[in-house]
Amino acid sequence: MKRIKAITNLIHRCHCVYDIGSDHAFLAILILKNKIANHVVNIENKINPLNNGKKNLLKNDLIDKTTNVINNGLQNITKKVKIKPNYIVVAGLGGSTIVKILKTCRLIKREITFIFCPNSQAYILRKWLNENKFSIEKEQTIFNKKFYQIIVAKEKKTKITSMKKYLYFGQKNKQLDLLTWKKYLSFSEKMISNNKNLSYNKQYQKMLKEINQWK
Ligand SMILES: C[S@@+](CC[C@H](N)C(=O)[O-])C[C@H]1O[C@@H](n2cnc3c(N)ncnc32)[C@H](O)[C@@H]1O
Repeated sequence: MKRIKAITNLIHRCHCVYDIGSDHAFLAILILKNKIANHVVNIENKINPLNNGKKNLLKNDLIDKTTNVINNGLQNITKKVKIKPNYIVVAGLGGSTIVKILKTCRLIKREITFIFCPNSQAYILRKWLNENKFSIEKEQTIFNKKFYQIIVAKEKKTKITSMKKYLYFGQKNKQLDLLTWKKYLSFSEKMISNNKNLSYNKQYQKMLKEINQWK
């Protein structure tokens, strides 16, 4: 819940938020209860999580303020949903899945603020954003049983190039929560140097190797 709360804190009062991979619909509930948006579109690619979310919305008497659809990310979403988003949130999915979702987005991206909270591979997402004219406006590292990074991004007219080290560790984290960011950095460093046999560490090693090859 701390993670979902931190995401909602980054959304300004608006008309509509899309939540891709909405599952339990906790994000929609928090947004609507706090009157941050008038409407939330919950997008799920599986029926059970979608139904689970609908049940929670019904319990909270908020179902009328939502649209709940089965869809693969944003693929052809305009055929099913007519209301336009001010924000699109994608949380709890891996960085490469988020990139796949972004690649099929045919909405006018420049009009939308994207909030991502990948549960892994944040660097893959940052690298794609970097190569596709997105600027990272804000970042926040939070600890909720494990470290999560929240990335607020907007598409721009021209390419904005970030230094490669920032693609992995972030750059703007210091503005919102410097202390947690520092803890995350030292945690990552320890993971890389101490636990050579952990498969988790192998992922980090792979990331570092890849990062070193980036120009
Ligand atoms: C781990 S849950 C995250 C739930 C919530 N967003 C959160 O952060 O707590 C991931 C959800 O995303 C859904 N999902 C995975 N890939 C998806 C896709 N391509 N399109 C829509 N939903 C997807 C899954 O069915 C699952 O319910």
